[in-house]
Amino acid sequence: METGSQPRIELGILNEQELKSVAKKFSYCLSDGDVVILSGEIGSGKTTFVRGLVTGLGCSEHIVTSPTFTLMNVYSCLKTIYHIDAYRLNNLEEIFYVLEGEIEEKDGIFIIEWGELVKEFFLEDFVTIFFEHIDESHRKLSITADQTRVELIRRCMNVG
Ligand SMILES: Nc1ncnc2c1ncn2[C@@H]1O[C@H](COP(=O)(O)OP(=O)(O)O)[C@@H](O)[C@H]1O
Ligand SMILES: [Mg+2]
Repeated sequence: METGSQPRIELGILNEQELKSVAKKFSYCLSDGDVVILSGEIGSGKTTFVRGLVTGLGCSEHIVTSPTFTLMNVYSCLKTIYHIDAYRLNNLEEIFYVLEGEIEEKDGIFIIEWGELVKEFFLEDFVTIFFEHIDESHRKLSITADQTRVELIRRCMNVG
């Protein structure tokens, strides 16, 4: 299904456990240098998604904390994960100044909560995951990216 100009993968309405398993599955589709933007209101499950994601890369979900106050957490899993929260806009330029090298060297995966605020910092393409609050225990997720990447993720996750 397509919305606007970008193809979209609908992941459906998920409870917390399902959301974490989807995130774990998604982690298998990531390569070093990938930038993933997590977009959704507070409490919509962005950090929870990262918990599921790191388990797919051999880490315990308990290492994940919200980077709201630290701005960036680094997890050394099978791949290095840079978990960034762009909500606090001060220091943002500094973060990107620091990370530019890593991004260019493709040294790790970049997961950015509230990343829609910083899209323009990235020249290369990125994947966006949208989180929608449905009710207390359910969130609706969808993924957008360019056509090639969406096809790749569809095949990798085996979803429509
Ligand atoms: N289906 C669900 N998916 C993700 N989180 C859920 C779900 N249902 C309830 N929750 C709860 O909602 C909260 C989501 O918080 P968090 O992942 O930190 O959101 P964000 O990072 O978007 O602010 C957690 O307390 C989690 O336990
Ligand atoms: Mg969060």
